[in-house]
Amino acid sequence: MRVSRTLRVEVHETHVRATLDRPEKRNAIDRDLVDALHSLCAELEREPRTLILTGAGGIFAAGADIAQLRERRAADALEGINTHCFARIRALPMPVIAVVDGYALGGGAELAYAADIRIGTPALRIGNPETGLGIIAAAGATWRLREIVGEPLAAEILLTGRVLDAAEALAAGLVTQVLEPDEARAEAERIAARIAALDHAATQATKRALLAPRDAHPAIDLHEQAVLFESPEKERRMTAFLERKRT
Ligand code: COA
Repeated sequence: MRVSRTLRVEVHETHVRATLDRPEKRNAIDRDLVDALHSLCAELEREPRTLILTGAGGIFAAGADIAQLRERRAADALEGINTHCFARIRALPMPVIAVVDGYALGGGAELAYAADIRIGTPALRIGNPETGLGIIAAAGATWRLREIVGEPLAAEILLTGRVLDAAEALAAGLVTQVLEPDEARAEAERIAARIAALDHAATQATKRALLAPRDAHPAIDLHEQAVLFESPEKERRMTAFLERKRT
């Protein structure tokens, strides 16, 4: 299944895989791709499944489309074209896993930051060169990158445009594993399968709690738990544990 010319989508039992597929432009994220990502989000909001995000051609994404960015004006900036798209991906009910191979720059990096779990490859080059283009990284990096790697490194990446390699990204926790591309994709599928075996309601509640602002805690945790404590699936899973046969 393909939701657009540049976004290839495959639906699997445990996950949906979406591949940015515009290698001739290094998977630069243009308006069509943003629209396609919104359509994909609409599907995943209707029928929640873990999303695996990847890029074709040994690249994740070389950023927002600079040809389109150059034409945008103040009103376009305020519309938050990429910002809202990535926020919607971030807020998807089930986890999002990014397999980040090769370049993930600018908006491409911000798309990766919007994932819950990131797996890199040895070719990974990730960073935010926006200030060199006369703009800021306005699609999540100024706060999400800081949350992921902490203020000192986020400031360095955003203020200097320094691009991290795989080893640096791993050391910073920006990716949790570095694997060869095929193995990285296989690992993402294993993670999706593991998640699929867990209780979906509990996974979705955990994600909502993880994404909630600090001052929403602990009320949100208690509210989510209250709902789950009444669920037949919790009863079933706990009973299965307590009555399991010991060998
Ligand atoms: N937006 C629009 N087009 C882009 C693009 C982007 N972010 N990144 C690459 N392209 C296009 C190039 O213009 C080129 O198009 P052309 O063949 O019509 O001339 C094509 O993709 C190939 O790019 P090229 O630079 O020749 O590939 P490369 O493999 O030598 O280098 C990169 C790859 C990623 C290092 C380089 O393309 C790059 O620096 N891209 C911009 C990164 C950036 O600043 N991103 C932040 C944007 S917010």
